[in-house]
Amino acid sequence: MSVKKMETAGGEKDTFDAVMSSVGRVKAIAQKRFESSKGSHDWDHTLRVYRLCEHIGKAEDVDMEVLLISALLHDIGRDHQDSSNGKMCHAKKGAEIARYIIKALPLDKKQEQNILHAIRSHRFRSTCLPKTREAKVLFDADKLDAIGAVGVARAYLFAGEVGARLHNPDIDVERVEPYSREDTGFREFKVKLSKIRDRILTREGKKLAEKRHAFMDAFFKRFKVEYEGVR
Ligand SMILES: [Fe+2]
Ligand SMILES: [Fe+2]
Repeated sequence: MSVKKMETAGGEKDTFDAVMSSVGRVKAIAQKRFESSKGSHDWDHTLRVYRLCEHIGKAEDVDMEVLLISALLHDIGRDHQDSSNGKMCHAKKGAEIARYIIKALPLDKKQEQNILHAIRSHRFRSTCLPKTREAKVLFDADKLDAIGAVGVARAYLFAGEVGARLHNPDIDVERVEPYSREDTGFREFKVKLSKIRDRILTREGKKLAEKRHAFMDAFFKRFKVEYEGVR
């Protein structure tokens, strides 16, 4: 594991242990904040993003401490966005909350700024783009969890949360209101998920995205013909 070197008497092992202790502390704090989260953006999503960050981060020469802490905190503002029906940006709010959590950790200023930047820039719709390696890996990991088999499952979980229909073939997907009864898994695929592959930033992320995209594309083709009763 590539971690930022810290000044410790015992060398590499102490460095590794110190990093993992910071990550462990954040994990315990973050998990508590997800106790009442909805299924599509719950603690399990955070853990999947965390594992993808470990995977992609190994290939991208990142500060693993910054990356893993960012992964654990990236959706910490989500309940604020949900309770405002999408009006409040969870990435911005998440960075505000994260600032208080990380200030107790033995991080330097640059690491703190990097974590807050990664959280602020992880959102697909955001105008704040990821600039650091760690922010790019977090962005990719979060987007990868929205495509492929997991992505399809999450799209319908989310549609269920807002009381949406299974499918809505008579309506132009571009004109459907998100968070409404007309907001289907297929709309999410057409408007957002089908475009994610082309937004992935890292080499390892692109490799994973190709396979996940192909699976999802095949799923929705099949879904449409089954829905029409053709097969
Ligand atoms: Fe998010
Ligand atoms: Fe997320």
